[in-house]
Amino acid sequence: MDFVGRYPSTRPRRLRFANWVRRLTREHRLGSEDLIWAMVVHDGPEAEIPVASMPGAPRLSVKAAAEAAKNAQKMGIPAIAVFPFIDPKKKDAAGREALNKDGLVCRAVRAMKDAAPDVGLMVDVALDPFTDHGHDGLLRAGRILNDETVAVLIEQALVQVEAGADIVAPSDMMDGRVGAIRAALEKAGKTDTLIMSYAAKYASAFYGPYRDAIGSGKLGTGSVENPGDKKTYQMDFGNTDEALRECALDVAEGADMLLVKPGLPYLDIVRRVKDAFALPTYAFQVSGEYAMIKAAVANGWMDEDRAIIETLTAFRRAGADGIVTYFAPRAAELISA
Ligand code: PBG
Repeated sequence: MDFVGRYPSTRPRRLRFANWVRRLTREHRLGSEDLIWAMVVHDGPEAEIPVASMPGAPRLSVKAAAEAAKNAQKMGIPAIAVFPFIDPKKKDAAGREALNKDGLVCRAVRAMKDAAPDVGLMVDVALDPFTDHGHDGLLRAGRILNDETVAVLIEQALVQVEAGADIVAPSDMMDGRVGAIRAALEKAGKTDTLIMSYAAKYASAFYGPYRDAIGSGKLGTGSVENPGDKKTYQMDFGNTDEALRECALDVAEGADMLLVKPGLPYLDIVRRVKDAFALPTYAFQVSGEYAMIKAAVANGWMDEDRAIIETLTAFRRAGADGIVTYFAPRAAELISA
């Protein structure tokens, strides 16, 4: 770095001595337009049901979710990602409830669209909220079936789009699903529907609290017939080149936007994906990242508001165009303050 001078003619601290100059020279910043609010909905009458591992991010009733969508619109949050807590009685091995046109996701999407037409609605395409075994796909003799699952995911996506979803976000990690969903959307005349592919999604410990939130806690039994992890379809955390191959496939198959997940431990992947594809690129600050911050804050070990803005800005610095986060409403408040 020849262009860097020498002390004392160059003193980097000059650029930090007051807030105004720090603001003036800041390279990356966070705006409310960078936020996608991750929100869990439930089917009952209670406006909010707390989730022990996710304090401050309760499950919302459909009515409360519609109110929240109005708030998002007011706060300038462009989009909400909806995740359902499905009544255990409605779950089965095939996740059939995922195809219910009057199921929880479709009703929530309709109510939220009605309440806040200018907020984009993103829905997860995957079967795990709906299967009794908690896997994202169909399970036979210990294997998650790929092509059979894709056939169901196509139907799930169409049902959600019919209800008003703007972005379908396949989070299942089956091979070929983006292309199959894109072809089905084109055939159905849904040419404006966006696909945000969970292209680089890792098998991660950081999804733990989410499984509490949506009630898919007991993943398999760990037996050969019913695996206790998702490692045969989600990526290995030691890999980076594989993330680029996953993204390349999804781009070729018709993805409009790419998502990296989890977030903070995978900022290197965010940067590589952004540099390689130059597409709108997002990161998911997942439930475990949320819970870690909340737990440290509850112990008095960290300042919550500062941790929120610092982590979300770190995603922007790494190249993310936006962040899916449970902190979205608080972050939007802090930004506008
Ligand atoms: C499931 C799905 C998961 C998340 C979003 N969609 C969990 C998983 O893959 O096991 C995680 C979200 C979070 O942890 O906040 N397809």
